[in-house]
Amino acid sequence: MSTLAGCITLVTGAGRGIGRAIALRYARDGAKVVATDIDAETAAAVAQEIRSVGGVAEAMRCDVSDPAQSAAAVDFAIDRFGRLDVLVNNAGVVRVQPFLEVQPADWDYVHEVNSRGLFFAVQAGARRMLTQQPLAPGRPRGKIVNVASIAGRSGRPMFAAYAASKAAAISVTQSAALAFAPDLTVNAICPGIVDTEMWRKIDREWTSHDGRPVGSAWKDRQKIIPLQRPEQAEDLAGIAAFFAGPDSDYVTGQAYHVDGGVLMA
Ligand SMILES: NC(=O)c1ccc[n+]([C@@H]2O[C@H](COP(=O)([O-])OP(=O)(O)OC[C@H]3O[C@@H](n4cnc5c(N)ncnc54)[C@H](O)[C@@H]3O)[C@@H](O)[C@H]2O)c1
Repeated sequence: MSTLAGCITLVTGAGRGIGRAIALRYARDGAKVVATDIDAETAAAVAQEIRSVGGVAEAMRCDVSDPAQSAAAVDFAIDRFGRLDVLVNNAGVVRVQPFLEVQPADWDYVHEVNSRGLFFAVQAGARRMLTQQPLAPGRPRGKIVNVASIAGRSGRPMFAAYAASKAAAISVTQSAALAFAPDLTVNAICPGIVDTEMWRKIDREWTSHDGRPVGSAWKDRQKIIPLQRPEQAEDLAGIAAFFAGPDSDYVTGQAYHVDGGVLMA
């Protein structure tokens, strides 16, 4: 039997990048997937990709900066499939700017999604998960997986608002793990420097600030990765499957680095 057979999962920001990789992996492991994204078309395309190989998936547009939309997405998953076992809060945004140039609107843009949005999505998921029976006796009633970042572990002068939002995501993970134990597990994944659209945007904005050629911010950051290859979205799928499945039932409140060895702590 597949590890996630019978599991109902919801992934935010599932239209591309890390969210897409997690959604595809969950489907491959036997889960039913609700793929949500602020971009309805990409969410629909991922759900279609899953169905095209025999999986079960639905898509929904959901802007996680609006708590009502996060609650509606959770309700949609439960209406459609009867329960929600795993909620992955993956949607995230970044803006690269020198510290002194960050305006209140920049701070809000990042935090409305990465920390405020994530907090209320956790709340929406937990509220419904706490009222359901576990999938099997002795198991948690549900599992929440938050995608944070190694940027939440230390300072980032060129994306200070982002780093703070990811530190908040780690903190929310710990508070939620305590608030909902023993009924739910809540863990975080901290990706490193991943080859997605997000890093292409970081590279464009960073190099335009300091006048380096496009591509050089990405290239420079690669030099600090002990495993000596760029991290791919798919590199995050295994840990996301672990946090969703029964092997992590005794793990909660953790933030796990999947970064090729950049951070060791
Ligand atoms: N790429 C990296 O190097 C890296 C490193 C550490 C952490 N992360 C985190 O991983 C997560 C995924 O990043 P990625 O690299 O796949 O980024 P990405 O930009 O490629 O994809 C992000 C997805 O989130 C969606 N999204 C953006 N705002 C949204 C909103 N308000 N509501 C719902 N969906 C929204 C986008 O449409 C997109 O599909 C993010 O939380 C990011 O901060 C990424």
